[in-house]
Amino acid sequence: MNHVKSLRSALIALVGLCVPSLVIAAELPDKQAELQVKPKSEDTVYLNPREMSAIPQGAFGDKVRQGYQLFVNTQQLRGKYVGNELNCSNCHMDAGRKPNASPLWAAYMAYPAYRKKNDKVNSFQDRIQGCFTYSMNGQAPANGSEELVALSAYSYWLAMSGLMDQYQVAGEVPELSDAELLKGGKREDFALPAAVKAAMNIDELAKLPGRGFPPIDKPELAYSPERGATVYQAHCQACHGDDGQGLAIAGVYSLPPLWGPQSFNWGAGMHRVNTAANFIYENMPFGKSIQLTNQQAWDVAAYINSKDRPQDPRFKGDVEALQKQYHNHQGYYGQSVNGGAVLGSQSYPVNPDKK
Ligand code: HEC
Ligand code: HEC
Repeated sequence: MNHVKSLRSALIALVGLCVPSLVIAAELPDKQAELQVKPKSEDTVYLNPREMSAIPQGAFGDKVRQGYQLFVNTQQLRGKYVGNELNCSNCHMDAGRKPNASPLWAAYMAYPAYRKKNDKVNSFQDRIQGCFTYSMNGQAPANGSEELVALSAYSYWLAMSGLMDQYQVAGEVPELSDAELLKGGKREDFALPAAVKAAMNIDELAKLPGRGFPPIDKPELAYSPERGATVYQAHCQACHGDDGQGLAIAGVYSLPPLWGPQSFNWGAGMHRVNTAANFIYENMPFGKSIQLTNQQAWDVAAYINSKDRPQDPRFKGDVEALQKQYHNHQGYYGQSVNGGAVLGSQSYPVNPDKK
């Protein structure tokens, strides 16, 4: 369990950075749309971003480093922008570098993205705001804020350093202005080294192998929270706890909660059974991924997502209406599991104060 210890000491070491005053975003960002990503293929070569030690000194490098620190210790924003006990890197693993764990380098090159549904273009900062609102059960930092610039700078640096190395482009990653950083890399006016431009077009760059959580096949039997409980006891409970609440030592979580008041809320992508199944199959149990069968991954995903969690922030008092409007997918919001209360009718608060 050395990784747990080091994760914990890293968290402790990072606590204590100061936080500026609260800015309230005017409206909720878009709902977390399901990514459409390709299934995994066997012979894939993934982008390999440069190591942290290669980040240059100076103001630009400082932004990149700040983004990294916010990403791995998002708890420094607890009570301000974060309303649960998670860190971004709990799901986007290896500090956002791990292929098939929705890596930041692939994400950066996929925005701005056009959304047909609301005829709106989502920038990279919009997408990050979505994860603050739902995955982090918080209140997203405002457009253009220091935090969103830093997280974008870190993502950009991972993507660009990986691309430069892949196509043998020497030198430092070119610096970008804050306004440019926030947009993302999928645009005609995004500066790319000639060797990268010659190798891949903008649509290929937006679909780098390893993006998102690759879809796994549907299970043979309809997924079942009951069978999932057995999978949970055998493969997850040792780390995530008897009741899914993870493990905190001296108030710092080294093992993240999977449901309940300190986990992601009912609007988060991870509450969809398919998204969680894809994540779990590829990335859990921690440290030895791809141990479960498809069926086990779907069943345990159903199990953890049949438990209550913080309310969907779009809730306006009517669970059924919200379920119809936003939950037309594989999830349990608005349903009663095994005769329990309708999920969503007694959910935990959104963006609560830390006790
Ligand atoms: C060896 C300990 C360990 C085991 C066993 C384990 N996990 Fe995890 N899990 C972790 C750690 C650590 C993280 C955070 C990853 C990080 O920060 O890099 C995590 C993250 C997660 C997350 C995303 C964060 C969250 O809180 O929602 C989910 C979902 C998850 N695990 C589900 C499972 C499931 C389901 C199983 C069983 C099939 C399982 N885990 C087994 C240690 C473990
Ligand atoms: C509970 C797990 C979880 C946590 C914690 C989390 N995310 Fe996410 N994130 C997701 C899921 C799930 C998706 C979308 C995948 C899907 O819907 O298919 C996603 C998508 C993204 C994307 C877009 C990826 C792409 O390729 O389009 C970015 C960028 C992102 N998250 C950044 C963040 C940041 C920054 C944080 C912390 C402030 C964070 N996430 C915290 C689960 C999480």
